[in-house]
Amino acid sequence: MLRKLLIGTMLASSVGVVAYAQDVGRVEVLHWWTSGGEAAALDVLKKDLESKGVTWADMPVAGGGGEQAMTALRARVTAGNAPTAVQMLGFDILDWAQQGVVADLNQIANEEGWEEVVPDALKQFSKYEGTWIAAPVNVHSTNWVWINKEALDAAGGKAPETWDELIAVLDKMKENGITPIGHGGQAWQDATIFDSVVLSLGTDFYKASMIDLDSEALGGEKMREAFARMEKLRSYVDDNFSGRDWNLASSMVIEGEAGMQIMGDWAKGEFLNADQTPGEDFVCIRFPGTQGSVTFNSDQFVMFKVGEEQREAQLMMASAIMDPGFQIAFNTVKGSVPARTDVSNEEFDDCGKKGMADLAEANSNGTLYGSMAHGHANPAAVKNAMYDVITQHFNGEISTDDAPAELAAAVEAVK
Ligand code: GAL
Repeated sequence: MLRKLLIGTMLASSVGVVAYAQDVGRVEVLHWWTSGGEAAALDVLKKDLESKGVTWADMPVAGGGGEQAMTALRARVTAGNAPTAVQMLGFDILDWAQQGVVADLNQIANEEGWEEVVPDALKQFSKYEGTWIAAPVNVHSTNWVWINKEALDAAGGKAPETWDELIAVLDKMKENGITPIGHGGQAWQDATIFDSVVLSLGTDFYKASMIDLDSEALGGEKMREAFARMEKLRSYVDDNFSGRDWNLASSMVIEGEAGMQIMGDWAKGEFLNADQTPGEDFVCIRFPGTQGSVTFNSDQFVMFKVGEEQREAQLMMASAIMDPGFQIAFNTVKGSVPARTDVSNEEFDDCGKKGMADLAEANSNGTLYGSMAHGHANPAAVKNAMYDVITQHFNGEISTDDAPAELAAAVEAVK
């Protein structure tokens, strides 16, 4: 039935008749895409589904990084009223799959050959015990810096490639009277910077500490250096950073009030939404010292087990997410890169092209790692234990000398 419907929809659009779409059904979608750039990208998905006869019931839960969304999801599932589809990250997907409450997507995945086009790094989260349980819509990465071009030119004009060059640019921006780093003081944002700082101290160090949870790496001298660098970066944010939403920090850079933001490439969605152009209005670089490696996170939609009457709409949504044309239309707006490896980079801007090339390079070099801050390195309990120590240190509640031991102990207590 679904195949007939898909053919019907394609025929209707290909022969140019006024495309009407049968009412396929309704999907209620829980997500946290509430910023300007995120909403613009989400609109691409909504309109695509509506053109295919799927009614979209929106369930936005604001809060960057998705913590609040996952709390709302737990309440809905506990009440026996799961949404049809939910935006999810990494290990959260596997945790829900273990509960036995997510739908099997093998029918559509096998019909459409997802196995061949979704990279292994994503598949480890899209499948559970051999069954497809999520449709990946993108690949984001966190080790980026977004720099206001005018502020960079006023600070010497050279994008920093090393830690020392980064500090020199930040000092110059401070001299020039702007806030050097636009940042929002929320645990997930502090942790997003931490991803990059740890990675910049070595890929082996990132893997040992963030992925393998090696206690020597977590509590040792190199981790002290990581916290010392976090303390240094803390000295470049403004006094009102605490609690600021990430997209407001992006706006500070867009407006030139701040020089740069250390953030995942969803930030690019804000620059594009403000009609800014890479290379002219802003510059995208890999966090100095992380060139050649990538810390990634993929937004995936998990379909929950719901009544048969919603099954068709669910499969239609999963199919729409994986459509190559949609992957281009969505990711060029979202700031991420496609979840499929068979999509051309032609329609992507220079930062998008760089993102796709960096991902392919890191994937082939074995320097592609799951982002700790965005749930792709370890389960939520470990991630949240790290969040607590990182943000307490960033706020001066734990000293740089004590932080490594605190981190190792916090992880040891939950792993
Ligand atoms: C990430 C998510 C992005 C964006 C960001 C800010 O975890 O993958 O799509 O929503 O949080 O909220």
